[in-house]
Amino acid sequence: MAKSANNIMDRLVSLCKRRGFIFQSSEIYGGINSCWDYGPLGVELKNNIKKSWWKSMVYERDDIEGLDASILMHPMIWKASGHVEGFTDPLIDCKKCKNRFKATDIEGDKCPICGGELTEARQFNLMFKTFMGPVEDEASIVYLRPETAQGIYVNFQNVLNSSRRKIPFGIAQIGKAFRNEITPGNFIFRTREFEQMEMQYFVKPGTDEEWFEKWKQERIDWYLRLGLKKEKLKFHKHGKDELPHYAKDAYDIQYEFPFGWQELEGIHNRTDYDLSRHQKFSGKNIQYFDESTKEKYTPYIIETSAGCDRTLLTCLVDAYNEEEERVVLKLSPIIAPLKVGVFPLVKRDGMPEVASKIYNYIRKNIKTFYDDSGSIGRRYRRLDEAGTPFAITVDTETIKNNTVTLRERDSMKQIRISIDKIEEVLKEKINV
Ligand code: GAP
Repeated sequence: MAKSANNIMDRLVSLCKRRGFIFQSSEIYGGINSCWDYGPLGVELKNNIKKSWWKSMVYERDDIEGLDASILMHPMIWKASGHVEGFTDPLIDCKKCKNRFKATDIEGDKCPICGGELTEARQFNLMFKTFMGPVEDEASIVYLRPETAQGIYVNFQNVLNSSRRKIPFGIAQIGKAFRNEITPGNFIFRTREFEQMEMQYFVKPGTDEEWFEKWKQERIDWYLRLGLKKEKLKFHKHGKDELPHYAKDAYDIQYEFPFGWQELEGIHNRTDYDLSRHQKFSGKNIQYFDESTKEKYTPYIIETSAGCDRTLLTCLVDAYNEEEERVVLKLSPIIAPLKVGVFPLVKRDGMPEVASKIYNYIRKNIKTFYDDSGSIGRRYRRLDEAGTPFAITVDTETIKNNTVTLRERDSMKQIRISIDKIEEVLKEKINV
């Protein structure tokens, strides 16, 4: 199969639709720009990514608590955070064809689409606005959160007091965020509605740089554990002109997509900016009192901010392989939406009965798929495209000696194992 980087994305998009990973939102109405729906396999993959992140952040450590804050919050939060004033992109309109562009994407003074005259750049706020309650006036404006982080900052004291934590400790959250991006695109890479997996780590000022380094390492290690290729990952340090308004230091973890090196996650040293601002705007004391040293201070924050949808796209791109006879997604068993397929070789001689029994037994603990339609080769290809790492086939020998074949997706090698060992072998291989 020909490999052209240009249309690899097109072929991946079409695989995602064909196999039920991702569909265009509102497709029967012609679709809606930059919105996507996750199908049966997509939702499993996404859940597995979130579970892996939560496990590594919350369960495997004992210094991080979880939180699920609401999307709609007091509008003052966005004034305090700097988003009302500064979360903007410079926007340029074409007077002729009415298309809109990010000023930074335009070279020259003519519209890149129709050659028409362009307006001056003006600042465009990326936050979505809506109204709370029945009256649609200035006083009832609320925003859809553009990042989940602020929900953590305004709950810092609540979590600290209820969990009786001591600094350093962190708060982790997974949730939707919304940005009215001027130029969304590249499938689910940049969308207007997306999910973030953010962790804010509260530290004593002066220890922030050390923690920043530790978190950079932790985070890149997580992507490696998801099975991403090491040579496709790198850090990018933000120059002074790139630094977000809240950060003293910032690194992106970048991945080399078919459309170039792009940000996957941001790691930021946010200093005491956010807590100080919320203290000022709310008039509430958000300082930390250290019992052992009797010191009072506003903690510094090290933030790790990953995009769930972007991680999912990265895993798909990284796993996508076109081989001589098949297209295969070499997803890590940890995140693969289906872990195993169970097939009877043919629909007779007692094989479907045995295969159904095996399927009904293992699916209770392991996400399993049963398929008895089409040739065995076709069934393997379908599993390969779905990224399913293992297949169990019941054949004539099974009926004689209670063994099945276990096929491994990447090597396509098959071994025979006894039926009563299936669950144990799979659990070990999938790392359950
Ligand atoms: N709280 C800090 C923050 O939100 P960010 O760099 O703006 O930082 C963090 O966003 C991550 O969220 C990005 O690295 C990316 O993975 C994801 N993200 C941001 N905007 C996105 C968008 N429009 N579509 C999909 N993912 C997005």
